[in-house]
Amino acid sequence: MMKKKLWGGRFSKATDALVDDFNSSIRFDSRMYKEDIEGSVAHAGMLGRCGIIPAEDATLIQKTLREILQDIEDGKVTFLVDAEDIHMNVETLLISRIGDVGKRLHTGRSRNDQVALDLRLYLRHACDEVRALIKELMETLLTLAKEHVATIMPGYTHLQKAQPVTLAHHLLAYFEMLKRDDKRLSECRARINVMPLGSGALAGTTYPLDRAYVAEQLGFDAVTNNSLDGVSDRDFAIEFCADLSLLMMHLSRFCEELILWSSHEFSFVEMDDAYSTGSSIMPQKKNPDVAELIRGKTGRVYGDLNTLLVMMKGLPLAYNKDMQEDKEAIFDALDTVLLCLPVFTKMISTMRVRRDVMLKGAKGGFANATDVADYLVKKGVPFRDSHAIVGNMVAKAISLSKNLDDFTIEEFKECSPLIEEDIYEAISMETCVGDRAVKGGPAPERVQQEIADGLRYIQTL
Ligand code: ARG
Repeated sequence: MMKKKLWGGRFSKATDALVDDFNSSIRFDSRMYKEDIEGSVAHAGMLGRCGIIPAEDATLIQKTLREILQDIEDGKVTFLVDAEDIHMNVETLLISRIGDVGKRLHTGRSRNDQVALDLRLYLRHACDEVRALIKELMETLLTLAKEHVATIMPGYTHLQKAQPVTLAHHLLAYFEMLKRDDKRLSECRARINVMPLGSGALAGTTYPLDRAYVAEQLGFDAVTNNSLDGVSDRDFAIEFCADLSLLMMHLSRFCEELILWSSHEFSFVEMDDAYSTGSSIMPQKKNPDVAELIRGKTGRVYGDLNTLLVMMKGLPLAYNKDMQEDKEAIFDALDTVLLCLPVFTKMISTMRVRRDVMLKGAKGGFANATDVADYLVKKGVPFRDSHAIVGNMVAKAISLSKNLDDFTIEEFKECSPLIEEDIYEAISMETCVGDRAVKGGPAPERVQQEIADGLRYIQTL
């Protein structure tokens, strides 16, 4: 156990064990060990280069830090709770190995700018990781869409049948959402990628640090402009969690649909056995647990975002210890997304699509009523009037227990004498979908084009 704290100079008593435990963040911030060491290597190199510490000391510090990194990765290091956090654990290890030389590392630096740096390095990588998984999901959506350009299904509003669309068109709606999710993360990464070291505890430092050099060594695009801001905002982390929340919201809506679609009542899809679970009591059950869990876990990511927002809202500048609470929320949101994305992608790529049931679903429920109205408009009836005529027609169809397509030509003519034999072709599901060829519409040739554009877009990521 560590006897004297690195900051213990003015203290005459040891920290109570309860406080050590309470104050310590090593339980959860140890996962930033790599970023912490990477940052320290760059800082030490800069201190040596600028003549702030002897060049040979800087070299020894860097070499030892790299050894410590290796030892951590080999599982040879046990972190100490009373060394508080990852920053002081690494520094303690360094000093235990090279003594006084190690004590020079923290020159011109505070844990406040250090933790801001570590978090930015960590989240920068996290953005890349999440984006790679989003890309895989986008590819899967395009592959599925290609197979289902002509798979007609009902589109809904209010969860009531509205107009026919295709499964490909429906899938491409999610493709668009994911495109924005990905873009948001790439923009978030750009705001993360600003180097805070040199902000010191809050007021910068008197040492002539070469901040630009450190930024360059660590692959940052710029350095922070204000030391108070550099150590005390976590907006970049909040933005990251907000982006993850939106992503999860999209996955969750899709999951909700898949749960509905795999119900007996819909039967549009069937999840693969490998992506479903059974019931301990009801032998017949096959439950879409994966989709339900993703929907459920969306709530915890929102919770993480809320934790950060509430934690930050009343904090005066600059650093406050409250901010140590950011990490568990950030890591939880990230872990949840990293868990959900691959399983979601696998689940949808293995599900069975019931084209026949989807088509039947599109045919029932008067999904082509708008097209009957449009037919009359094309024969010169004002839309408002044709809307009313078709409304009556639907009422009549309900009383006859028929679909509109099943009307005889006489039944049609009773509703409007303008209707002729070509009505059947005009309101077939294929025509309803095929004629919606406006940009953004479900017509197969449009959707083919969107898929081709999508494939090209993915190449640019
Ligand atoms: N473990 C701390 C955190 O996560 C690091 C910064 C501590 N700074 C301080 N002045 N106590 O926020």
